[in-house]
Amino acid sequence: MYPSFLKSAIIALVLSSAAGLSAAQTPPNGETLFRQRCGSCHTVQAGQNRVGPSLHGVFGRRAGAVAGYSYSPALTAWGQNWTAVNLERYVAGARATVPGTKMSIVAPPPAQRTEIIRYLQSLR
Ligand code: HEC
Repeated sequence: MYPSFLKSAIIALVLSSAAGLSAAQTPPNGETLFRQRCGSCHTVQAGQNRVGPSLHGVFGRRAGAVAGYSYSPALTAWGQNWTAVNLERYVAGARATVPGTKMSIVAPPPAQRTEIIRYLQSLR
């Protein structure tokens, strides 16, 4: 049999590796991804424009509509609403979707885009 100090060391090891595993397997949620991938330029607080406009209530609203933000003429003229499909296209390729837009980012991978858009939708 193992001496008791070894037993508790083994139990501690098993427990800590189980905790490490579950942390590694839990994907970051949309809010965290938003902060990481969009938060340097956007907030979701009303009226808080940064490099990019506030994304408060962005889901479903018309593009280029935040008061006090100086959009590119291209986005102002685009005339579409931020549906899930349009958000996906824009975040995947802003300039391919709205030629002349001044948003320039490295597109997050598809699974992250889905989570971020779900998060924006959840804020409605
Ligand atoms: C490097 C800064 C930067 C990052 C990072 C960034 N954006 Fe932007 N975003 C902008 C700028 C600048 C605009 C304004 C574009 C224009 O006027 O053409 C914009 C505009 C937008 C708009 C249009 C809003 C409106 O009112 O019509 C959406 C939607 C948007 N961004 C979503 C995102 C999402 C989602 C992410 C994260 C995946 C993100 N952005 C990351 C700079 C950024």
